[in-house]
Amino acid sequence: MKVVLLGYMASGKSTVGRLLARQLGLEFIDLDEYIEEHQKKSIKNIFSEKGEIFFRKLEHQMLSEVLDKEESIVLSTGGGTPCYGNNMETILKESDLSVYLNLSIPSLVERLSKEKEDRPLVKNIGEEELPEFIGKHLFERRPYYLQAKHTLDCNGIDAETAVEQIKKLL
Ligand code: S3P
Repeated sequence: MKVVLLGYMASGKSTVGRLLARQLGLEFIDLDEYIEEHQKKSIKNIFSEKGEIFFRKLEHQMLSEVLDKEESIVLSTGGGTPCYGNNMETILKESDLSVYLNLSIPSLVERLSKEKEDRPLVKNIGEEELPEFIGKHLFERRPYYLQAKHTLDCNGIDAETAVEQIKKLL
């Protein structure tokens, strides 16, 4: 069984994914961590040393590699993963369940303003510009996220509740 979690940066994909995998007794893979281990470099350094295009190619390659595995997994993708190349098609084809963790712009702004440092795409966006940046970015990305088999409204619920809701979809 393969469960894939999608959503914007800081929407809780890794936290929910780790918890879900533990409860289901499945292997958990965080695509960003998988890429970091493969490159022996942080995402931040991959972006600064090799650039975003290099990262997107790697992300594409690693996504296919992970979804090709025989084992059952819970996979947390990066915020941009479904939005490049044919990645969303691959996710839909290779997973049994894909879930978009949907969070409102104000909640994303609140979370991301505290967790910007290791995220190259938002690191240099000032506090005041963040709501507009996220709003525009989500407008471009949501059409991809919405292709997931299920959309889970994560506003006002904690990670444990999100996991319970996802388990009901299995
Ligand atoms: C990205 C999201 C990040 C990471 C990279 C690019 C994006 O993952 O893959 O910084 O394009 O939204 P998280 O969603 O885990 O922050």
